[in-house]
Amino acid sequence: MLADTKMWLQFLPSLLLLLTAAAQAASFCPEDHVISPCTCLNDHDGASVSCFGSYMSAAEMTAIVGRLQNTTMSRLHIGGFGDLTEIPAGMFSGLKIVSLRVSDSSRPTMNEQSFAGIRGLTELIMSGLQMTEVPSVIFPSVSHVEYLHLSYNRFTTLPDRIFSPFTRLRRLFLL
Ligand SMILES: *[C@@H]1O[C@H](CO)[C@@H](O)[C@H](O)[C@H]1NC(C)=O
Repeated sequence: MLADTKMWLQFLPSLLLLLTAAAQAASFCPEDHVISPCTCLNDHDGASVSCFGSYMSAAEMTAIVGRLQNTTMSRLHIGGFGDLTEIPAGMFSGLKIVSLRVSDSSRPTMNEQSFAGIRGLTELIMSGLQMTEVPSVIFPSVSHVEYLHLSYNRFTTLPDRIFSPFTRLRRLFLL
């Protein structure tokens, strides 16, 4: 019995090495300095980057997002700071990402190209942005999403057929 245990113990270091290698294989996050002051966690399907509450300008934000082009991304969360005055044209262009959340900022301006070129998006969350109008100008670029969250805004009207570009929509959150 003791001999058995000893035998297994001698394999323990190799087993630990194997486990470490497996854990590293699932590492998608870029090095900290690449995305600082944003932070990153490894999801099973890609990097989950949070730039929430990190004060920075739209230009700084765009630069960081640009450095994520070659990263396998699952989620990106931007917001929680007042300086995000706009979502510039092409900010997410080329980015392949499952879920994008822009939240808790003060009504950033957006145009037709703000979300142009984003790939693989399934979920778009734009909550707490103090928007008074539905941001339909961006809808053609994100019309393939299945989950659209527009909660905690200040919409006063919902024009007819405003969500008609979304042909795959499964859930819409407005409240
Ligand atoms: C992404 O990869 C391409 C091809 O290897 C490279 O030219 C480009 O500089 C990379 N972009 C970033 C932001 O790392």
